Amino acid sequence: MSPPATDPGRTGDGPVLVVDFGAQYAQLIARRVREAHVYSEIVPHTATAGELMARRPAGIILSGGPKSVNQTPAPSMDPAVYDTGVPILGICYGAQLLTQQLGGEVSRTGRGEYGRTPLTVTGSSPLFVDWPGATEVWMSHGDAITAVPDGFVATATSPDAPVAALHDPDRAIYGVQFHPEVVHTERGRDLLERFLYEVCHCPPSWTHTSIIESQVAAVRSQVGSSPVLCALSGGVDSAVAAALVHKAIGDQLTCVYVDTGLMRANESEQVEETFRRQFHIDLVHVKAADRFFEALAGITDPEAKRKIIGELFIRIFEEVARDLVIEQFDPAVADPDTGDEAAGYLVQGTLYPDVIESGSDAAATIKSHHNVGGLPDDLAFDLVEPLRLLFKDEVRAVGEELGLPHDIVWRQPFPGPGLAVRIVGEVTPERAEILRAADAIVVEEVRRAGLYRDLWQSFAVLPAVRTVGVMGDGRTYAYPIVIRAVTSDDAMTADWARLPYDLLERLSSRIINEVEGVNRVALDITSKPPGTIEWE
Ligand code: XMP
Repeated sequence: MSPPATDPGRTGDGPVLVVDFGAQYAQLIARRVREAHVYSEIVPHTATAGELMARRPAGIILSGGPKSVNQTPAPSMDPAVYDTGVPILGICYGAQLLTQQLGGEVSRTGRGEYGRTPLTVTGSSPLFVDWPGATEVWMSHGDAITAVPDGFVATATSPDAPVAALHDPDRAIYGVQFHPEVVHTERGRDLLERFLYEVCHCPPSWTHTSIIESQVAAVRSQVGSSPVLCALSGGVDSAVAAALVHKAIGDQLTCVYVDTGLMRANESEQVEETFRRQFHIDLVHVKAADRFFEALAGITDPEAKRKIIGELFIRIFEEVARDLVIEQFDPAVADPDTGDEAAGYLVQGTLYPDVIESGSDAAATIKSHHNVGGLPDDLAFDLVEPLRLLFKDEVRAVGEELGLPHDIVWRQPFPGPGLAVRIVGEVTPERAEILRAADAIVVEEVRRAGLYRDLWQSFAVLPAVRTVGVMGDGRTYAYPIVIRAVTSDDAMTADWARLPYDLLERLSSRIINEVEGVNRVALDITSKPPGTIEWE
């Protein structure tokens, strides 16, 4: 449907709040709302009506959740929210909760619905305008709404949900048993847009351009004329954060890129090319491979390797930062005892899911597993986090809009300690080179097969064994390369990717022919759990 140009009748000029009742449902709903160009934020179900109203919400969506409303304890919500006048849409658990809290009935009928389900529209509703009488929706429920509260009418039904949709037109409270946020619900997107545009009267003003404009303004007002540092990793988050901050404050930004010798093929060149030559950003490129290999010599324990890399990275970053601070921002070096004088600002590529997970949008926490593993004690930086309201897909879209190269914007995740995480056993320059060359072939062929974006990650691993082989007339004793390719939504769980045989054949043949020191290629067919994505 087409969105409204203005917003008559809107109740609040703030976000659409998605109340989180558990699992990952709330994030998906919030993303769908934003895809309709309406800004949304996730709030815990424990927030009071007063706390919600302080955000001046334009609408409230109650998410699904894994519990049953008839369980004790089951997550609930301050019932005063129903009297605020703000339009409400309850989805699945949210629909059942509002039914129960407002005096209707939710029962365990013994017949749940899971997956694709036919829906019959039985009454008129602003959410179902122009809908066909029957449509397919995605269901996932054990309980069912069996009686609507006073003032409500039922507007749809499905084989095992007597009330699959309901609403109270006077209070603008809606509930749907199915999941409109899931792509398998045929008219799901239409339903959400109708709720946002026609019930909440939200203007479709959350666009990538508006995100950039608002973040540029926010960064300018936060940092004033102070200096700002950003550690680039070659990954998408730090790249987009740097480009955004540079758009805001230009020469006040200095980027630091530490080449650990454990980067992917061409990564360093691409960082130089993009940031120094294309964006004209002041870039300090520290070529520190020797220092890292020296520190890693003889170390085989995976945790020890991580620790060494993390600590050396910080030391190097600290050296650079101290030089820059002294050079540019005197007298900004903070008192080591109090640490309360800010030396300047440090950009972090924190994303919205990290903010939600940390349980607070007030505290600026520094991710301990991030490439910048911590901050030097005696340099007190304030954090600039221009991506902290954004989901990953929004970060990529903003990156494209800012003109970052496709390769950087769509790059698969890469661990902070780099290739070291994929080299089992000792990390030496020779072994890093073998892995880098094999990995480049994996990336190139996966891209050529058109699968790069469909896979969460696809890369090469170098185990610590050598095996006998035969090449030409001679016997070889060389390393195998393991190909690891997984599909995943969030890296918490993953499945091994069923790569086409012809792709595997090309990978095997190219890696063995082109990478000296490799005589065998194997494929990892382990899901997570029980495996992890990386080999360490
Ligand atoms: P595992 O191997 O635990 O990895 O299944 C899950 C995801 O995390 C990434 N990973 C890291 N990312 N710093 C990061 O920024 C790290 O130290 C790190 N270690 C693992 C891994 O690539 C996968 O996507």
